[in-house]
Amino acid sequence: MRCPTRLSLAVGAALTLLGGVLAAAPPAVSAPVAAGASAETLAPTPPMGFNNWNAFGCDVSEALIRETADVLVSSGLAELGYEYVNIDDCWSMRERGPDGRLVPDPVKFPNGIAGLADYVHGKGLKLGIYGDAGTRTCAGYPGSLGKEDIDAQTWADWGVDYLKYDNCHNQSDGSQADFVRRYTAMREALDRTGRPIVYAICEWGQSRPWEWAHDVGDLWRTTGDISDNWPSLRSIIAQNAPLHPYAGPGNWNDPDMLEIGNGGMTATEYRTHLSMWAMMAAPLLIGTDLRTASPDTLAILGNREVVAIDQDRLGVQAAVLEDRDGLMVLDKPLADGDRAIALYNSTDALATVDVEASATGLPAAGAYQLRDVWTGQVRQAGTTISAAVPAHGTVVYRVRALDDPGSTAPLVTAGAALGTLVPGAEGGTLTTTATNRGAGPIHHVEVSVRAPQGWSVVTTSPADQSELAPDASLSTTWTVTAPEGTAAGAHPITVTADYMWGPHHTPGSTTSELVTTVVTAPPDGRRHLGTLEPVRAAGARGPVEVDLSVGGAAEGDGSLITIGGRVHTRGLGTAAPSEIVYYLGGRCSSLTTDVGLDDAATAAVPAAFTVLADDEVVASAENVLAGQAPRTLVADLTGATWLRLVATGSGPAPDGTVVNDSADWAAPVLTCGDVSPDDPVLPVERTLVSFESGTEDWTIANPGDGGTMARSSAFHTDGEYGLQVDTPLSGNWFGRVLPEPLDLSGFSALRFDVRGGATSGTTGEIAVQVGPDLSWCQGGRWAWTGAGASRTVSAAFAEIECPAGVQLDLTQIRALWVFLNGGDRVHIDNVRAAEE
Ligand code: GLA
Repeated sequence: MRCPTRLSLAVGAALTLLGGVLAAAPPAVSAPVAAGASAETLAPTPPMGFNNWNAFGCDVSEALIRETADVLVSSGLAELGYEYVNIDDCWSMRERGPDGRLVPDPVKFPNGIAGLADYVHGKGLKLGIYGDAGTRTCAGYPGSLGKEDIDAQTWADWGVDYLKYDNCHNQSDGSQADFVRRYTAMREALDRTGRPIVYAICEWGQSRPWEWAHDVGDLWRTTGDISDNWPSLRSIIAQNAPLHPYAGPGNWNDPDMLEIGNGGMTATEYRTHLSMWAMMAAPLLIGTDLRTASPDTLAILGNREVVAIDQDRLGVQAAVLEDRDGLMVLDKPLADGDRAIALYNSTDALATVDVEASATGLPAAGAYQLRDVWTGQVRQAGTTISAAVPAHGTVVYRVRALDDPGSTAPLVTAGAALGTLVPGAEGGTLTTTATNRGAGPIHHVEVSVRAPQGWSVVTTSPADQSELAPDASLSTTWTVTAPEGTAAGAHPITVTADYMWGPHHTPGSTTSELVTTVVTAPPDGRRHLGTLEPVRAAGARGPVEVDLSVGGAAEGDGSLITIGGRVHTRGLGTAAPSEIVYYLGGRCSSLTTDVGLDDAATAAVPAAFTVLADDEVVASAENVLAGQAPRTLVADLTGATWLRLVATGSGPAPDGTVVNDSADWAAPVLTCGDVSPDDPVLPVERTLVSFESGTEDWTIANPGDGGTMARSSAFHTDGEYGLQVDTPLSGNWFGRVLPEPLDLSGFSALRFDVRGGATSGTTGEIAVQVGPDLSWCQGGRWAWTGAGASRTVSAAFAEIECPAGVQLDLTQIRALWVFLNGGDRVHIDNVRAAEE
């Protein structure tokens, strides 16, 4: 909220003082915040527009922003309200100008920010910029701490309309008072410019800004960064939804920008993303490349009815009426008296979610009209608002009282539940439930089930009924069998209820899709557990990672699992609490694994690791602490159908700091079927170079370009030593021409482990020389490893390209090379051939 008058500041100060008390009973705060604020705020409804960060990161430019502005207008999105075109980090030069001002990077922004602002304003849109309440931005560009006035004035002079103000390099003592100070300093500097600039506080919810920022910012981030995957979306919704009492015009909870269209989630999940952002009255900042966005992406972002819920001028964030077992019901009042009711299913199975109208803010009435804002379908319900909601889906209805339900089709739901199926085995029991939620009876109800071809579906109880009274259900059981040979994974089954309604016996029908999971037992052998597909894998933060620690919310953003200084190239990285489930089908005998907290954990409460065979604990480690050496667990799995790996014990440390609770399963090996203990662990790897005796005759391909090498114990993934490489900034190839041709037939990939330079990270790539002419073959594949992070770089032979006319003859490998760069000290180890 912008505060041109001191009056509103006084109101805000009172709220701030009450903050501590109100935190315990947040609902009390909603009325005073919402009331009267709209008249003077720049953000009477949540800001809408675009920001480049999610899709482009630092790769921002004038061309991108201009072209995006063009598409916002030509696609009609601007007319829907998407008006801010926001530049994120990395727009400036690395240093300020001689006058102390920030300088736009002239290569990225040839016309400066002012020139770009003119262009954007000429399109009827507004321009946003990014700054940081610290000495540097997150990507290392100049920050505004202590330079608030000159920077605010610079942005105002350029014609900027929106500031996202970040929190990296903040020199903070971590106290809420420090956050208030740093963010208020910019608030006041913006005020002094006299230019209206929307102020978006971005401190990731660290100091509970919803308690203090009402008269400082127009919106405030409530969580860490979003990333384009379902666990991230689910966790952000769980954090942001309960903060509804704190939102109101000019004061929005910001659960971060949209990932819709970026490819990491399903259409159902992206619809949940927009639905829940609208219910939560969140800013809608598109984070995908609009120039290449698909019609499906544009249709989701452009859903007028969903956007209208977000932008409703009452400006109330939906209350959470229920939040149980992964199912959430939200209720948002709208200016015309309607209510938006969302039924959100965060579980992995179809679920019927319902709420009695009397438990919502709807007036008492004989019936209600429900308009599904995604399908446009209109239905009437007597007492209960309900839907069979697909896994990860959200149904949003716009609801109002209905005087005469007679001519409106009744709401009928078709729910279903089915466990996992084993191909060829005895069938699983499917239960379907058709429920009439209409105000009058329905007739000739008939339920049918469609499974993939070749499956058998047999009813074991009646699937039809002549009449269903209001709120009555028909439950039917079925036996479903997947034929031998069915692939493991998700398979769709649809459930349809057909019926007649009303005086004219109008036919009606409703269909739900249930996704069933087919499981198959692991093949014979001893193998790294991470190469098998779990039936379920869920952790507290980010996806469960294979062969990496969990890192942050994004997939693949951890490092090699490192416990008590020992680096593992294989394992499962989780953030506790976590659970990973495998189907064994009684075919396996044992699991051997190391467990421990990752050295990346900053502070930690003790964790516990438990291995369960079916429901029996077969191995466990309690009181595991950060910094300890890994502990080894050996679990007898004989006869077990299911294997469950559970890590618990995360949570705030006793001093209240948030725990970086990386609970890792390192080098887990599962033994199944007919094997001897001497069989190698699959997939097989063969070490080619391990640097135990020194640099092992490694040389530098282009000596003139620089680089030096030495054996080092600082990073190793086998033996005791690896190779330390001081890389030139723009890189070099390090490796060896072999004395004898190497035969790698039977292997499918080359790998090595790398730890990036402490300040700059490195790029890793692999090349080989083959045949009598020592032809260079190298992949277009390279892997970036961030500063201080580690990973395995892998190149499949199929991805390594040779010059025209040269074959990659695996029996004639004459030289091995890895590419490293960054101008920093990089470590590598264990160059090896691998079976995929
Ligand atoms: C932080 C913010 C992100 C983005 C980056 C830019 O992580 O939370 O939204 O702005 O910085 O470096």
